[in-house]
Amino acid sequence: MGEALVFQQVSFAYDSNVHQAVLQDVSFSVKKGEFVSVVGPSGAGKSTLFRLVSGLEKQNSGRILVNGKELADRQGHVGYMSQKDGLLPWLSVVDNAALPLILKGFSKKEVWPEVIKKLEAFGLKDVEHRYPDELSGGMRQRVSFLRALLGGSDLLLLDEPFSALDAVTKTVMHEWLLDQWAESGRTILFITHDVEEALFLSDRVLLFSEKPVSHLEEILVPLDRPRMVEDLKDPAFTELKEKLLLDLRKLVTL
Ligand SMILES: Nc1ncnc2c1ncn2[C@@H]1O[C@H](COP(=O)(O)OP(=O)(O)OP(=O)(O)O)[C@@H](O)[C@H]1O
Ligand SMILES: [Mg+2]
Repeated sequence: MGEALVFQQVSFAYDSNVHQAVLQDVSFSVKKGEFVSVVGPSGAGKSTLFRLVSGLEKQNSGRILVNGKELADRQGHVGYMSQKDGLLPWLSVVDNAALPLILKGFSKKEVWPEVIKKLEAFGLKDVEHRYPDELSGGMRQRVSFLRALLGGSDLLLLDEPFSALDAVTKTVMHEWLLDQWAESGRTILFITHDVEEALFLSDRVLLFSEKPVSHLEEILVPLDRPRMVEDLKDPAFTELKEKLLLDLRKLVTL
């Protein structure tokens, strides 16, 4: 099956804070087609991990392999939805969503009909020609999410994609995301603070359990696919959820 992502002894500190590493000799891997969530306290380094995978930051030591290769330029190999949605305020919704396709050289005329159809499927009908600051937080996240998907990369990094959604919309988006994932065979890495969300969606959960992190604790989710809402009541599920919440609680120091 192969590995979509491999970290080998990766260390990283931001230039402005060289004495406080975020990652210290971190190794882990994600198989092609896997759905893996990343959880941990605020400031633990989850978004930083994604910035390293996407190539926005460069590790100080160690190797990062995407699809078995160490790439200098990972543009086009990794679809990244950042925690701040990153929409460009001067572009309309449809132009924001279509951006990865335009960057690949397609014309607006070619891609607009398809992108508009997708926007509709995302509950964004009739806002195609609005600008990001005219949208709600949840709408912005959906546009940003669509943009990450349209990049066409096999590896998707989603940084708290549903954090601004209400509970009901979130559940709908979960089902939708799992369908998309099953259909596309893509690999997904998903950051969330919502433990139930992490367990419900994932094959595995990686926990940032120390700072700087050197070992990502791994939790396997013992549920079959496809996942059903009823799974949330499964005793194995609730037990795991309690344990993970407790683990996280121990890590949070205010
Ligand atoms: N551009 C930056 N320059 C310097 N330090 C940074 C930068 N971005 C993040 N940091 C620091 O790196 C550490 C990890 O930040 P990161 O954003 O990865 O955390 P996180 O786990 O995503 O947190 P949250 O759950 O709040 O999003 C924090 O101490 C943060 O202050
Ligand atoms: Mg973050």
